[in-house]
Amino acid sequence: TGQEAQSRISAAEDLSALEALRVEYLGKQGSISGLLKTLGKMTPEERQEKAPAIQALRQSVTDAITARKAELEAAELEARLATETLDLTLPAPQAPQGSVHPVSQVMDELAEIFADLGFAVATGPEIEDDWYNFTALNMPESHPARAMHDTFYFPDTAPKGGKMLLRTHTSPVQVRTMLAEGAPLRIIAPGRVYRSDSDATHTPMFHQIEGLVIDKGIHLGHLKWTLETFLKAFFETEDIVLRLRPSYFPFTEPSVEVDVGFAIENGKRILGGSGDEAGHGWMELLGSGMVNRRVIEMSGLDPDEWQGFAFGVGVDRLAMLKYGMDDLRAFFDGDTRWLNHYGFSP
Ligand code: PHE
Repeated sequence: TGQEAQSRISAAEDLSALEALRVEYLGKQGSISGLLKTLGKMTPEERQEKAPAIQALRQSVTDAITARKAELEAAELEARLATETLDLTLPAPQAPQGSVHPVSQVMDELAEIFADLGFAVATGPEIEDDWYNFTALNMPESHPARAMHDTFYFPDTAPKGGKMLLRTHTSPVQVRTMLAEGAPLRIIAPGRVYRSDSDATHTPMFHQIEGLVIDKGIHLGHLKWTLETFLKAFFETEDIVLRLRPSYFPFTEPSVEVDVGFAIENGKRILGGSGDEAGHGWMELLGSGMVNRRVIEMSGLDPDEWQGFAFGVGVDRLAMLKYGMDDLRAFFDGDTRWLNHYGFSP
């Protein structure tokens, strides 16, 4: 029966057939288990005579089952690997690719244009201290200009008095940079700003780039030349006509609002020409002016020694103009169809 068991075990075709054989021989009711039980009823002499053969049989059957089990498992693995073969020559599914957002694109372009003019990039926090956002910019508490900013305030008190807030413009970076680096200075400060306002041309979060030059003998002519030079480079045309209008900002004196002339073609605004020509108009582009001496003072510099100009321009507005986009809210919807429509696909 040892021979027979061996051949049946090596002929078992799969793991379940093998398990059935194991139960048949070695299970509780199994035949070899039965033989082992008979040992108990034997006389010691008889037992000594028969036991080695039965033990040996049990061992050889156990070994045979273990060996066959290993064989069957290896075969099963072989078969599975054969069906799971990867074809590495198949083309992989294309992963969707992102593209640079128009706002980031414009900020990168402006950083490059201004780098050529010797401007470094400066930054400041979006969660800002009332003092930097307003007070140091010549808007003390209860200054009426504060009301025009639709400010998002935090409930806690700021270290310098007042409350913490989401900065309403990038102008606080002027003060921070003057305090940190002194003069002379030539910086731009791009970033997010926040005002509680929302329609087709206003979103509660938008982007500005601040420009600041502090040096000796700086005057309005430097400001005008800088703005003209950067706008021509940005819009890639020499045909840029600016109109400088007297205005008011507490942190500049004099203050200048800058409009750019445009023509209307097929219902679209095309930059170029004087806004006073027939069929043309002026579009407000940015705020600017000579830095108010009180701001220079509060920023730790002597206004009799240092003068400068500053400007603040809406990045989103520049992007809308350059790419012919008309709804500012679409900038922040994250809808890739809109981006693709304006050519911002990978
Ligand atoms: N901070 C102003 C605004 O957000 C713009 C500005 C910047 C005006 C610098 C003058 C000088 O409206």
